Amino acid sequence: SLFNKQSKTIGLMVPDIMNPFFPELARAVEDTLAELGYTVILCNSDEDTDKEQSYLEMMMQKYVDGLIVSSNTLSAERVKEFKMPIVSMDREIAKGLPSIIVENKKGAKMAVSFLKEKGRKRIAHIRGPHSVGNAIDRCEGYREVVGGEPWFKESYIAYGNYDMKTSINATIKLLKLHPEIDGIFAANDISAIGAIKAVHKLGKKVPEDVAIVGFDGITLSEATTPELTTIAQPIYEMGEKAAKMLVEMIKQQQVEQTIYRLDVQLIERQST
Ligand code: RIB
Repeated sequence: SLFNKQSKTIGLMVPDIMNPFFPELARAVEDTLAELGYTVILCNSDEDTDKEQSYLEMMMQKYVDGLIVSSNTLSAERVKEFKMPIVSMDREIAKGLPSIIVENKKGAKMAVSFLKEKGRKRIAHIRGPHSVGNAIDRCEGYREVVGGEPWFKESYIAYGNYDMKTSINATIKLLKLHPEIDGIFAANDISAIGAIKAVHKLGKKVPEDVAIVGFDGITLSEATTPELTTIAQPIYEMGEKAAKMLVEMIKQQQVEQTIYRLDVQLIERQST
């Protein structure tokens, strides 16, 4: 911050505040920073480069002491322009930038293997956006488990936008085109909730006709009918670690580890 004065304010930028994953994460960041004496400015970028840019400029003008960002459009060069500590959370922006992420590929493999163990023979994937790193990793995990199966078709992979609406549409299309599908791995919970809704709309049952596994472990996943089986990320821990790491950087203490890759866990519920 300017004149070496600290504003004791941190900027937090997330891609989509409508996705319940991010308020849960933001809560952890805020709790932790509050304890350490910092306040938080929250920005929702919609992963729009222009919006992101103007938020970043605004935060620089407010002299924030550091940034925690969950972004897919920021490049390594851009990050260097911001002469302040930055921690990347949930997404890996650039090599060498302090990041807190999870075992995305491993989690996806766990989800798809679990559907197989449950006897599912035609497993589809509702993936996240093209350019988002964790969506790519989760899709790779899906492919590693079923991509070599004789029944596998490229059209078993449908694109969603990590939100409910696109997932409902994608799932309806997928099941109309391939009524044989009996299992779906959705790349995040809100998409899985959309998939449940779509299956019901088509007059089918979850899990009897189509078993569904999500990814995230948001609180809402316990409240769906049926309750959602999911690959839980340690959401709170991720936010807490990102906040602590940033404060360490601000105080210019040594950051012992640049990339934390946290583990995930399968939670079995009724949707499988
Ligand atoms: O950006 C959306 C997704 O990325 C979240 O739902 C969560 O899965 C995160 O890792």
